[in-house]
Amino acid sequence: MPLAVIAITGASGAQYGKRLLEEMLSAGWEIDLIITRAGEINLDLECGLTPEDLISDERVTLNDNKNLAARPASGSAKYDAYIICPASGTTIGKVAAGISDNLTTRSALVALKEKRKMIVVPRETPVATVHLEAMAKLSTWGVVVLPANPGFYHSPEKISDLIDFVVARILDQLNINHNLRKRWTGEEVDMN
Ligand SMILES: Cc1cc2nc3c(=O)[nH]c(=O)nc-3n(C[C@H](O)[C@H](O)[C@H](O)COP(=O)(O)O)c2cc1C
Repeated sequence: MPLAVIAITGASGAQYGKRLLEEMLSAGWEIDLIITRAGEINLDLECGLTPEDLISDERVTLNDNKNLAARPASGSAKYDAYIICPASGTTIGKVAAGISDNLTTRSALVALKEKRKMIVVPRETPVATVHLEAMAKLSTWGVVVLPANPGFYHSPEKISDLIDFVVARILDQLNINHNLRKRWTGEEVDMN
């Protein structure tokens, strides 16, 4: 069974992390979930949920973000992907600076040192130069920087359509099949 870390940090967009978790479970993944304190606040504010509400499936392990001895802290544990969704500018800045002061940042540093698949999903606008520089560094090091920027060319009708747009792009990066949205065929628009 493929294994991933999903970290939900304190950027707006907890819905993206929740939906990603659901979809990866549906696709047969096992998940080590980490939720920062600020992530918990946004999960409550935006979804009306607690971290415990996200662990009804036995394939999800909820890790204490303060526990630097938990499984994701070690490079010897084999993970197929590390996803920070949503990713706060603070966490992105720490990872780009090599700071691993909690389980979220430590597992991201493990992903970097082991050169494993990592995806960060920032949500902030406008973006401070320091965070742009941090994202550029991560991108240079092979991290997929996938901003939570839904497109509108699929005629979204509901907020869930916008959430699914972003989650679909994350799943694509992980080669996970999904039916979250129609794929562009090239025949939708006649430019002539
Ligand atoms: C309600 C709320 C919304 C926030 N939204 C964002 C955001 O969209 N993007 C961001 O980078 N930080 C946002 N922040 C700030 C982060 O939560 C803050 O930088 C925090 O220190 C991040 O810590 P963490 O990375 O450990 O979760 C928000 C904070 C709050 C309280």
